Amino acid sequence: MITFREALNKINGEIEKISYNCQPAELYDPIRYTLSLGGKRIRPALVLLAYNLYKDDVDKVIPVALGWEIFHNFTLLHDDLMDKAVVRRGKATVHRKWNDNTAILSGDAMLILAYKYIAQSPASSLKDILDIFGTTASEICGGQQYDMHFEDRTDVSEAEYLEMIRLKTAVMLGACLKTGAVAAGANREDANNIYDFGINIGLAFQVKDDLLDVFGDPEIFGKKVGGDILCNKKTFLLINALNKATENDRRELLHWLSVVDPDRNEQKIQSVTEIYNKLNLKVLSEQKMQYFFEKSVISLKLLNMPDERTEILYQLAISLMKRDT
Ligand code: IPE
Ligand code: IPE
Ligand code: MG
Ligand code: MG
Ligand code: MG
Repeated sequence: MITFREALNKINGEIEKISYNCQPAELYDPIRYTLSLGGKRIRPALVLLAYNLYKDDVDKVIPVALGWEIFHNFTLLHDDLMDKAVVRRGKATVHRKWNDNTAILSGDAMLILAYKYIAQSPASSLKDILDIFGTTASEICGGQQYDMHFEDRTDVSEAEYLEMIRLKTAVMLGACLKTGAVAAGANREDANNIYDFGINIGLAFQVKDDLLDVFGDPEIFGKKVGGDILCNKKTFLLINALNKATENDRRELLHWLSVVDPDRNEQKIQSVTEIYNKLNLKVLSEQKMQYFFEKSVISLKLLNMPDERTEILYQLAISLMKRDT
């Protein structure tokens, strides 16, 4: 079996080989830029590792793995525009380095490029994988729409939040794992269980992402700390703060949600963070992540193979819980 590191090396090697010798350069330069900035490459690694649970010739699924990574990066171009994010992976976001229209159009070109790679899935599973891709891509759009709509609401429930993050984030991790399993000819039961494993690590992944957005180390996190607070994102932290705060703190939170003033950005981030700290929400987030992690392990154990074989995915789930980037 390949290790996570070996999977990453393969993926990074193949991403470097992608040729962008196409015109117009203004369309392709931002794509090269985005894909060269790295990131964790979790999604393509999940494709390879899931495939490798069943079969050894992992190179067969490299194109579809790249397809998922390119698709993920496409969502980031549009997401950063929607979230007004200025940095990603420690570098200027595409809409800031170029402009909004470039982020839209180069993003569109990446979506098509992703589709071309995904269409190179092994013939025996091509139809199933295209179905997974289509369903998942639509779900992600739905999740992103909920995410935006929730910015304008103050009464989002935790259940609504969880459904939103299932759609915007978790389904892609589940889909990557399922892609690998289906490409390797896994039975339906295994394919569904590995998908559920991905959903639960994905839910924990997004709760962690929300946490890092406030408490991450700006040096290593690669995104601007406090970005979610400035956008009034209904994160796990904010929803719980609104539910658990004293009357005074809740009033203060609602006040800050109404403040849109670039001159007071730092003050807004600091004041909201103080309330999060007072309510010990870091611990609550970690408990929620642990809850989803434990659920993910149950699905993993349901796979029709010895635990030694799935140990690599178990370890990966642990490292995602501990990540600081
Ligand atoms: C960022 O995903 C978008 C979310 C779903 C939170 P990652 O944290 O996997 O981003 P990269 O690819 O490693 O930069
Ligand atoms: C991103 O969620 C989900 C998708 C891109 C589909 P976030 O908006 O929280 O991701 P980051 O924090 O910008 O990476
Ligand atoms: Mg964002
Ligand atoms: Mg977003
Ligand atoms: Mg985020």
